Amino acid sequence: MSKYEAEISRRRTFAIISHPDAGKTTLTEKFLLYGGAIAQAGVVKGKKNARAATSDWMEIEKQRGISVTSSVMQFQYEGFCINILDTPGHQDFSEDTYRTLMAADSAVMVIDAAKGVEAQTRKLFKVCAMRDIPIFTFINKMDREARDPFELCEELEHELGIDTYAVNWPIGCGKEFKGVYDRQNRKVIHFTSNTNARAATATEIEPDDPALAGLIGADKREQLMGEIELLDGASCDFDLERVRHGKLSPVFFGSALTNFGVEPFLEEFLRMTTAPLPRKAGDEVIDSFDPDFSAFVFKIQANMNKAHRDRIAFMRVVSGKFEADREVYHVQGKKKIRLSRPQQLMAAEREIIEEAYAGDIIGVFDPGIFSIGDTLCTPGKKFRFDPIPTFAPEHFRRVRPLDTMKRKQFLKGMEQIAQEGAIQIFKTPYSGMEEVIVGVVGTLQFDVLEYRLKNEYNVDLYMEGLPYEYLRWIETEDGEPVKEEDLILGDGVKLVEDYKGNQLLLFATQWAINWTSERNKNLTLLEFGGGWQK
Ligand code: G4P
Repeated sequence: MSKYEAEISRRRTFAIISHPDAGKTTLTEKFLLYGGAIAQAGVVKGKKNARAATSDWMEIEKQRGISVTSSVMQFQYEGFCINILDTPGHQDFSEDTYRTLMAADSAVMVIDAAKGVEAQTRKLFKVCAMRDIPIFTFINKMDREARDPFELCEELEHELGIDTYAVNWPIGCGKEFKGVYDRQNRKVIHFTSNTNARAATATEIEPDDPALAGLIGADKREQLMGEIELLDGASCDFDLERVRHGKLSPVFFGSALTNFGVEPFLEEFLRMTTAPLPRKAGDEVIDSFDPDFSAFVFKIQANMNKAHRDRIAFMRVVSGKFEADREVYHVQGKKKIRLSRPQQLMAAEREIIEEAYAGDIIGVFDPGIFSIGDTLCTPGKKFRFDPIPTFAPEHFRRVRPLDTMKRKQFLKGMEQIAQEGAIQIFKTPYSGMEEVIVGVVGTLQFDVLEYRLKNEYNVDLYMEGLPYEYLRWIETEDGEPVKEEDLILGDGVKLVEDYKGNQLLLFATQWAINWTSERNKNLTLLEFGGGWQK
């Protein structure tokens, strides 16, 4: 294997997804700690707490700075080069969070053992599942009172529609959390202490060793034997192929805070995942080991500092090797360019880099030439990676400039910010009065919009909340636009258009979506826009 192939083979690029507070930051931090990327726990978390502290604009700006720095973290662990993609989950949850998942090859889903599947887990899972990427489940906080592990697995299967395979099985929970049973090696791992900051100390013992009862108690041993039998008899077989196609999720139980089960999880995860995955570009499939460089833009982050109007475009290297200052071809811009000051993020630090390989994420300064989904490749090639979907916003407001004389600046600013992908804007050509509706995935984006329009375009906004929560793209059988009079729409459903002329419907409830689908059989209502196809 050449050095180049070895570099790509050892890369793993994944996202950690969870509902806020399930333990994503704690788990990420433990990974960084094991990889030696940070020296002590609390570095990442400290930032997060500072971030959550207040909510005035200076804080938003700071938060955005932090989201830039923590978008992706690279570290080394036992020969692997690991890229963890952060999916912000608190108030800065946005469409970017979804788009980030487009750059991952697999996902780690952190579930709070007392809570099970929660709203945000569901949303993020759906986006991972649409690409069939492998999903690994870490059921966290077993050191606290937890729900029954069988019930938790059943809930994952039932609610998310994915089969599960428990790789290990917990012995007790809360203060009584004694360890886990490793089903592959058929051994009990008994946790003894977590005085060592790096990893929990544990001893291994065969389940039929008489000494086990002494360690975990006769009752717990009895219960474990019964549960092992039940698991072996009733659960799915382990099938690595199904894992790799996102059909079967390996489940691990542990506690990120006390280190119990974290390092074994990381090791299994690395063993079960593959080197960076290929990507589709129309009829072509671009393999990671293809020697020609290629990448796609999945996120654009505006610089909040007025003195630096430039933006950062984050791109995922799909194939080959990226070298700083080498010319690349920007397919959508139809131009050869040099990517200036490419950056990579090592733990919490930004670094200017000289090279990057397939699987890596780099951030480059963008003078305003990139859009989400753009392809960069080696000059001479012209393929385009399949588009990144547009995700349905969940919050909508009607907006207009306070000063009607400023409509021109208002529209310019709105379109510019929409182009960065922070907001989506819709027109209402069907309702007589021309209005502008803004849709966002996370409400923080409304604050950002208001601030930026004032500061960058000198426009004060008037915003009015709208009762919609769902949006669907309309697809017709013949590809022609629908006429409003041909639609059967219930109360509170609104037909709008985006700035590319696509027609969409806004709904207040899921029920209204079903009602509308039932009565307009000639339409397909799509949850993802942008021409995305599996
Ligand atoms: P998030 O990124 O998914 O939002 O969650 P985060 O890691 O910040 O964890 C949320 C809270 O849960 C934190 O407590 C954290 O310490 C705690 N936590 C994470 N993993 C475990 C675990 O395995 N066991 C237990 N018992 N707690 C866990 P906090 O009180 O909000 O913050 P802090 O004061 O501890 O920093």
